[in-house]
Amino acid sequence: AVLILLGPPGAGKGTQARMLENEFGLVQLSTGDLLRAAVAAGTEAGKRAKAVMEAGELVSDDIVIAILRDRLAEPDCARGVILDGFPRTTVQAAALDELLAANGQKIDAAISLEVEDAAMVTRISGRYTCAGCGEGYHDTFKTPEQSGTCDKCGGTEFKRRADDNAETVASRLEAYHAQTAPLIAYYDDKDVLKRIDAMGEIDEIAQGLANIVKGAV
Ligand code: AP5
Ligand code: ZN
Repeated sequence: AVLILLGPPGAGKGTQARMLENEFGLVQLSTGDLLRAAVAAGTEAGKRAKAVMEAGELVSDDIVIAILRDRLAEPDCARGVILDGFPRTTVQAAALDELLAANGQKIDAAISLEVEDAAMVTRISGRYTCAGCGEGYHDTFKTPEQSGTCDKCGGTEFKRRADDNAETVASRLEAYHAQTAPLIAYYDDKDVLKRIDAMGEIDEIAQGLANIVKGAV
């Protein structure tokens, strides 16, 4: 199966993709995570991407497409994938169509997480993740059961992203509206678009998404 999660920064794509990954045995492919790993590893692509990401702008299509293509070719992806944060431009969407066609695959659903811009700043500014396993948390909306200890791995170290500040969030939202929001119409035209209200509780949204996925794959 191939699923796409569309939505602005902070909509909950990563949170929901991780839940779907567990429930359906799919592989989460986040180009944001892949790019942050490239930056941390100091690869050529990472060096080119770093400043762009810190400014909240989109990394160039050629870099992102190459990273995604390599990851998609790894054997675990044959189980099926949830794309989180890709595609983000019409050029990336066309490249994905070509990559999938070459593998005899198709998109089962492109799910748009619909949220109000005003909620994004609160969600993003409270976000942090476990340094050990990557589980995502929020200061108010998703706290560990035992304060300071990760529910998933028991780790006690957490980190925050360099681009999760109010100024960068504003640029990320602007980039979303200008370059990514047009993909909603792109997938609607292909009859694979589903919409979900993503303003509610995390678990409630997860249930709605699971129902969409069951119907689509
Ligand atoms: P990326 O890593 O993709 O970031 P993003 O799209 O800005 O999305 P986020 O990770 O911020 O949000 P999310 O929707 O996953 O929300 P989350 O689940 O964490 O991209 C980063 C950068 O990399 C880009 O700016 C760009 O430079 C570059 N990049 C990446 N992909 C690219 C591409 N394809 N092309 C070009 N450049 C690319 O939730 C947020 C917080 O809210 C969490 O704390 C969570 O616990 C909480 N939360 C989640 N759901 C709810 C809820 N329902 N109610 C309350 N709180 C909630
Ligand atoms: Zn952890």
